[in-house]
Amino acid sequence: MCGIVGYIGSKNATPVVMEGLKRLEYRGYDSAGIAVLDDGEIQVRRDAGKIAHLENLVRKDPIQGQVGIGHTRWATHGEPNMRNAHPHLGMTGDVVIVHNGIVENYLTLREELRSEGAVFKSETDTEVIIHLIERYLAAGHSLEKAVRMALRQLEGAHGVVVLSKNEPDKIIAARIGNAGGVVIGLGKDEMYIASDLPAILEHTREMVFLESRQMAVIQRSDLQISSLDGDSVSFEVQNVPWDPVSAEKGEYRHFMHKEIHEQVRSLTDTIGGRVDFDQGLVRIPTLEISEEEAKGIKRMYITACGTAAYAGMVGKVLIERIARIPVEVEIGSEFRYRDPIVDENTVVLVISQSGETADTLAAMEEGRQKGATLWSIVNVIGSQAMRTADGYISMQVGPEIGVASTKAYTAPLVDVYMLAILLGELRGTINEEERKKLVADLRLVPDLAGKCLDREQDVEAVAEQLMEAENALYLGRGINMPTAYEGALKLKEISYIHAEGYPAGEMKHGPIALIEGDLPVVAIAPKDPWYEKMFSQIEQAKARGGRVIAVATDGDEQIPPVADHVLWVPETPWRLSPVTTVIPLQLLAYHIAALRGLDVDQPRNLAKSVTVE
Ligand code: AGP
Repeated sequence: MCGIVGYIGSKNATPVVMEGLKRLEYRGYDSAGIAVLDDGEIQVRRDAGKIAHLENLVRKDPIQGQVGIGHTRWATHGEPNMRNAHPHLGMTGDVVIVHNGIVENYLTLREELRSEGAVFKSETDTEVIIHLIERYLAAGHSLEKAVRMALRQLEGAHGVVVLSKNEPDKIIAARIGNAGGVVIGLGKDEMYIASDLPAILEHTREMVFLESRQMAVIQRSDLQISSLDGDSVSFEVQNVPWDPVSAEKGEYRHFMHKEIHEQVRSLTDTIGGRVDFDQGLVRIPTLEISEEEAKGIKRMYITACGTAAYAGMVGKVLIERIARIPVEVEIGSEFRYRDPIVDENTVVLVISQSGETADTLAAMEEGRQKGATLWSIVNVIGSQAMRTADGYISMQVGPEIGVASTKAYTAPLVDVYMLAILLGELRGTINEEERKKLVADLRLVPDLAGKCLDREQDVEAVAEQLMEAENALYLGRGINMPTAYEGALKLKEISYIHAEGYPAGEMKHGPIALIEGDLPVVAIAPKDPWYEKMFSQIEQAKARGGRVIAVATDGDEQIPPVADHVLWVPETPWRLSPVTTVIPLQLLAYHIAALRGLDVDQPRNLAKSVTVE
């Protein structure tokens, strides 16, 4: 999705903004641009294509100055071309804007502005904003007032950053709703602006996050925040602990590969500080839940999108079994439209890497309106899903750059496991012995993940065999049914091979008709309570000519005779087995995509965080 970067200070803004944009490439985009206040005039360079192309444009026709803004665009209104790329100048050339989000009422506004003489140069919805600002500037208002008046007319969710040559000492930034974040990084006599932390993390860790309907006037050494009604707002400076080095690729060819390998560490960090192994206790202070509250929960909804929703499905199994709370999993884009049965005894738990996914945030709003308690499991610190929840669990995995989520899948698997134990303890649904055993099992997780990673070469060899496949079926049952969904999603999103995840027991009701010839059937069959059932499904797939790739537990002698390839995983307590079974599937998808020479970190048409509905 679109990304924003801005800078005001004493450095040359061009390289600062360009570097920031590069760090947002992972979000997915189709055009990019930069505007710099150069010798009193706003200079814009922009075009369709990658940042490398924009760098060439800037190299051929340099711009420099101490105030600048930049943007990566993911087309919504108007195709990706130079005219539609941001930044957008107004008619006077005095003001320029970058924008994330969709102006839902842009058609009406455009007609209104056209009737006043505005000439539109692009097909974007964004252009109406700059014309509105110019309308109010022409009427004699200050930049701050003009931006505020313009923003109040917009429907939809937005992040905007505006610069004017007539007020060169400031940048204005604002946020309305959930079109991604707007964060301001505080430096020494300089300020940074971004839609996402990785863009500016190398410069500062002191951050201020704008809330919805807030506007910031940013000067080198001053920051003022107000509401869109014009009331001054006090704000908190947050210290963000992420290490900027962890946002680099290092020795790896792709971020996704690096992030798969970071899982030993991310799982260690996920558990660390929350588990007292001596007492056999889980403590999650950011949830602030009392025994009475836990006992009062009658129902839970886990709502999320994509990979995060699959983590939620594992959560359902764990929370129902351990804490005996009925749990429904609903994808974010459906939740608010089905009038869910939610009341004050309901918890709505969202899972989100970015914490800015529009559908997930809308589900939170639905839960809020209906009086539910809102919890979130979120990676991006300071994101909307973290801030607006009543309680949250922070994923502790650091920046995830690859569009295909990996470490931000396994961490919430452990988070929901810990949450289930905590709720089970508070509700009295597990006894001390059971609790201590469940907690003790957590200690094994990082090491088990490491063992899966050690077998990468074996997975790579299987990837070589499968790289030409056109279709694949992933089958799983019980707690590893979501592993089948997640394995298939990983393969399709980065290798573009059509893959379906299916509950193995449903095969006979239809999909078994697909099995013939060499169709790869990836069967997730660790030694868990569903093993026997899964085994018979593998036999059926094999009998119909499928090419079986089984994920199986070390030492299993039944599987090799019925499988063409085996991806071995170490023996893992079954409730935690989705952590280990998914790792070979992440590696399989990664190596197939890499062998096919594809853009692993930025697959076509995809964005890291989907901030539009
Ligand atoms: C994961 O590989 C996907 N790219 C995607 O399904 C992702 O998990 C989904 O868009 C949700 O994102 P979030 O976790 O940031 O909310």
